[in-house]
Amino acid sequence: MSKVTGAPQKRLLHALSQSPTEQTPIWLMRQAGRYLPEYRKVRAEAGSFLNLCYSPDMAEEVTLQPIRRYGFDASILFSDILVVPDGLGQTVGFKEGEGPVLDPITSLEGLAKLDLARVVDHLAPVYETVRRLTKSLPSETTLIGFAGAPWTVATYMVGGRGSPDQGAAKAWAYRAPDEFQQLIDLLVDGTIAHLSAQVDAGVEVLQIFDTWAGSLPEPAFRRFAIEPVKKIVAAIKAKYPHIPVIGFPRGCGPLIIDYVRETGIQAVSLDTGLAASWARKEVQPLTCVQGNLDPLLLVAGGTEMRKAATYILETLGDGPFIFNLGHGIVPQTPPDHVAELVDIVRSYKR
Ligand code: CP3
Repeated sequence: MSKVTGAPQKRLLHALSQSPTEQTPIWLMRQAGRYLPEYRKVRAEAGSFLNLCYSPDMAEEVTLQPIRRYGFDASILFSDILVVPDGLGQTVGFKEGEGPVLDPITSLEGLAKLDLARVVDHLAPVYETVRRLTKSLPSETTLIGFAGAPWTVATYMVGGRGSPDQGAAKAWAYRAPDEFQQLIDLLVDGTIAHLSAQVDAGVEVLQIFDTWAGSLPEPAFRRFAIEPVKKIVAAIKAKYPHIPVIGFPRGCGPLIIDYVRETGIQAVSLDTGLAASWARKEVQPLTCVQGNLDPLLLVAGGTEMRKAATYILETLGDGPFIFNLGHGIVPQTPPDHVAELVDIVRSYKR
């Protein structure tokens, strides 16, 4: 067969369009990060984490680092889900060893200080990073852009930091759902603007991270997890019908079926807690699935990692499938284990 130019050569795009691929495509959530010594070096030079996100030369470099080492099928833009609140004008910082720290917004007064019109201008350096990556990435590597889902981003905006139970956001959502809805609506618009600007700059696929989707009980899950993502996907589809969107409603169990059906996403990322055998029967017939090796098996490496990765390949590898983790790589991951995992996936024969 003659060589075709452009997108069809890319394994990840084949899987997303539900075409068979000879080899299973692989990339890993948080593939750029502190487990890599070359990341830690650039991170130290950057000073603050947000400075790293907003410096196109450094952000481009750390995006490329895992591609150079492992030749993943996809590269995810180096940025963070909390650049959207920063773009809206909330004070956002990242503290060493503590994670994100924001000036909490817990009332309509606080909400009134945010400004949607500011987002795309403020995040211009992020789109510049995307433009550079479209030139520097290998031609077979797909560039993924991303944003947090409104609910997950709201949990940080309202709580002011990460929390085990998302208690602050829930308190507002349950006490005054129509007030909280205004924050969600603002985030829907901000996220559409941010994702659209990433596509305009050259990303080929979008992923929406809903890390805390699983903490919402069913009716609230429908209102604050499914509905906002459905609106975002519809707006993206209307403007960019060719751009696939991957959803990641982490921890939502069997509600993932409704999430797939109702949001209109083209693929869904499975968290570690979902059984691959169940997903094969219930989710894969609906859409392309991605996942779901336990990130701690990647820390352990060796026989147990090999067995678990092979089980996932045997269970999901025939359908439209992208190999990934069930959540992001953790900092204590030995880089050699990542190379070993890529080798397992690449040498797997159905
Ligand atoms: O390689 C990649 O995946 C690209 C970039 C990326 C980062 N964060 C970089 C980052 C992506 C896609 C994210 C998503 C993100 N950010 C999520 C959703 C996915 C998930 O992991 O659940 C969430 C909830 C955040 C918010 C966030 N950012 C937290 C809670 C933290 C602190 C925890 C931690 O890991 O330190 C961050 C900081 C962050 N984002 C780091 C990186 C590499 C580490 C900070 C540093 O290097 O100093």
